Amino acid sequence: MSTQQERAIRIEAPGGPEAMRLVDVSVGEPGPGEVRIRHRACGINFIDVYHRTGMYPLPLPAGIGMEGAGVVEAVGEGVTHLRAGDRAAYASPPPGSYATARVLPAKCVVKLPEAIDFETGAAMMLKGLTVQYLLRRTLPQGGLKVGDYVLFHAAAGGVGLIACQWARALNLNLIGTAGSDEKCALALTNGAAHTINYAREDFVAKVRELTGGAGVKVVYDSVGKDTFERSLDCLQPLGLLANFGSSSGPVPPFNLGMLAAKGSLYVTRPTLFTHIATREATQLMADDLFAMVASGQVKIPVERRYALADAAQAHRDLEARKTTGCSVLLPQGA
Ligand SMILES: NC(=O)c1ccc[n+]([C@@H]2O[C@H](COP(=O)([O-])OP(=O)(O)OC[C@H]3O[C@@H](n4cnc5c(N)ncnc54)[C@H](OP(=O)(O)O)[C@@H]3O)[C@@H](O)[C@H]2O)c1
Repeated sequence: MSTQQERAIRIEAPGGPEAMRLVDVSVGEPGPGEVRIRHRACGINFIDVYHRTGMYPLPLPAGIGMEGAGVVEAVGEGVTHLRAGDRAAYASPPPGSYATARVLPAKCVVKLPEAIDFETGAAMMLKGLTVQYLLRRTLPQGGLKVGDYVLFHAAAGGVGLIACQWARALNLNLIGTAGSDEKCALALTNGAAHTINYAREDFVAKVRELTGGAGVKVVYDSVGKDTFERSLDCLQPLGLLANFGSSSGPVPPFNLGMLAAKGSLYVTRPTLFTHIATREATQLMADDLFAMVASGQVKIPVERRYALADAAQAHRDLEARKTTGCSVLLPQGA
């Protein structure tokens, strides 16, 4: 039994950032198929905001955080791919990574290559595996070819900056949107072929202009409510809209016939957790991500670090669109 007193963020009820409290917890031994990990860094993601606010309801009281990196302390029965002492990282349910240590299912926990530090590991799993399944598996009819145009909203965010780099490595023409000129410049530096400041430019008109009127084959849209319908107007006939997030709010119900009228369009609403449902799938995707990072083609942009006790401030900054790239919580000293 781990006798050490641990600290973790908990919510008793959904609410604003202040709903997150740093409390003492005890962390037991891992059960069958589980692992206990001592975090060296914890990733911050927009899904943590959906959990905290109740947009994605959780059984209460609940932990927050789906991404982390650290050292394995103990493994439960049946876990063969990890051992005590291994450096490891994960994106995994259930929420609870905002903590000094925790027990969680081992299925989505992978060994972290020596060359990747803990902060990078904590920042890259949920966001990098998301880009992996988007650009490699969430594709239009016939797939994507060198030189194809795709539109990626919020391109200067955590997922966004990884997507810009990965798309460049695949020789795709990624058009990135972002909410300020500074963010647009950052997306360009990271590999976007073009950017659009959607706070002041009409992104539909601009996409049409950039693609010679043709439109893009795919829109990767994590903004949701504010962009959904106009994203459809950026697509070629038979194009694909992947709505993978709702940072501005959920997409309201819409008339399916609209997809016919706009050119026999496809719409999907994917989540990473379907893609990493098995240990084998998680490892395959993680290997691809690690190879992209090891080759230098994708650099994980850890821009902000917060103490675990400052999780509320980290959420305020994320929701106020103040952040670019990835942010992590550092549990040492909590
Ligand atoms: N489905 C999945 O598998 C999956 C997995 C990972 C992430 N996601 C989604 O991907 C998105 C990006 O996640 P992330 O953690 O990397 O966050 P992030 O992109 O670093 O932050 C969200 C960004 O969304 C933009 N945004 C647009 N409207 C907004 C609004 N009303 N309020 C707040 N932000 C707004 C902001 O960029 P601008 O100022 O440039 O507009 C903001 O910086 C999120 O929607 C998340 O839920 C989905």
